[in-house]
Amino acid sequence: MEKTFGKLADGRQARLYTIENGRLRAKVTSYGASLVSLFVDGVDVCLGCDDVSGYECNGSYLGAVVGRNANRTGGAGFELNGERVTLPANEGKNNLHSGPDSWGWRLWEMTAHTENSVTLAIHSPHGDQGFPGNADVTVTYCIENDGLTITYRGVSDRDTVFNLTNHAYFNLFGQDKPERAMDQELMVPGELFCPDDAENIPTGELRHVEGTPFDFRTFKPIGRDIGMDYEPLILQGGYDHNFVNSGKVCAVLRNPETGLTMTVTTDCPGVQVYAGNFLDNTGKGGVYYGKRTGVALETQFYPNAVNHPEWPQPFVKAGEPWQSVTRYAFE
Ligand code: BGC
Repeated sequence: MEKTFGKLADGRQARLYTIENGRLRAKVTSYGASLVSLFVDGVDVCLGCDDVSGYECNGSYLGAVVGRNANRTGGAGFELNGERVTLPANEGKNNLHSGPDSWGWRLWEMTAHTENSVTLAIHSPHGDQGFPGNADVTVTYCIENDGLTITYRGVSDRDTVFNLTNHAYFNLFGQDKPERAMDQELMVPGELFCPDDAENIPTGELRHVEGTPFDFRTFKPIGRDIGMDYEPLILQGGYDHNFVNSGKVCAVLRNPETGLTMTVTTDCPGVQVYAGNFLDNTGKGGVYYGKRTGVALETQFYPNAVNHPEWPQPFVKAGEPWQSVTRYAFE
C-alpha cells in the first residue's frame, strides 16, 4: 500500500509505503528511506512522526537511513588511496553521520514495492558530502516470517566508503510509552566496546566490558547502570557507544513484561547502542519523545574506522557491488 506522507516545506510530496505479513506491519517513507512504524502484534515498537513535516532535518535521525558513512569521522577527514578526503564538520571539528546534507533528509525514489517489501534508491554524485565516486545505493525493507530485514546495496565508480545504518529507535513497550523505554532489557554478546573522548571520538582502545556498566552479556534493564559514575557514561551522557560484534547476533532487546524480544543480526562489525540521551521530538499521536525514550541499535563499522586501519574497514573498490544485511526478528 502506498499513500501520501504530506509535503515538505518546499512543496515536494513524500510517500508512505506499508509492508506486512500477518503479524508484522512496517511503514517506510521516501523521506530519508526512514522506518516510520513497526507494528508487532498490533504494538508500534518504533519511534516516528505522523507526517513528513516531523522529519524535516530532524537532528535525532528518527528511523532514518544514514550514509555514506554512519557515525563520526574524527577531524572530518581521512586518507583514501593517498589522498585526503574532507567532509564537512558538523559536530565541533568532527563529522557526524556524513554531515548536514544527510541522506536521511532527502527524498529517495521507490523502485520496487510488493505486499511485504519496498526498495528505495538514491543517487549520490561524486563529491556528495565530500565522498569520492558517483554512487547508486538502494535500501530494501522486507518483512519475512517473524522479522524485518534491511538490505543495503551500493556501487560506486571510484573507491569510496559504504557504511550505512538505520537509526530507528525502539521501545518494545510501544512508542506511546516513552516512560518505559529504559525498562527494556538489553543483551549484547560483544565483550569489547569503544570508549570515546570528550568529543565522542573513539580513543582507539577496545575495552573489555567485564566489571563495567557496559557488560550486557546477560539481559539487564538499559536504565539500570546508565547513571553510574563511570567516565564513558559521563562523557557521552549515557550509553552512546560502539560494541564490537562477536557473532551474527549483535543485540537482543526484550520487554520483561510481555516477553517480546527483538533479536538483531547483522554482517556489520559493530553496533552503536544509543540510549536516546538527547532525544527531543514530538512523535506519533502527539507523544513527546524526551531524553531516553527509545534505544537505537545502529549496526555499522566502528565509529571513525576510516582513521583506524587496524579496525575492519568500510572502504569499497570502484565498480564492486557492495551489500550489507541487518535483520530484526521478533519472538
Ligand atoms: C549518535 C549520537 C547522536 C545521535 C543523533 C547517534 O548515532 O551516536 O551521539 O546524538 O546519533 O541522533
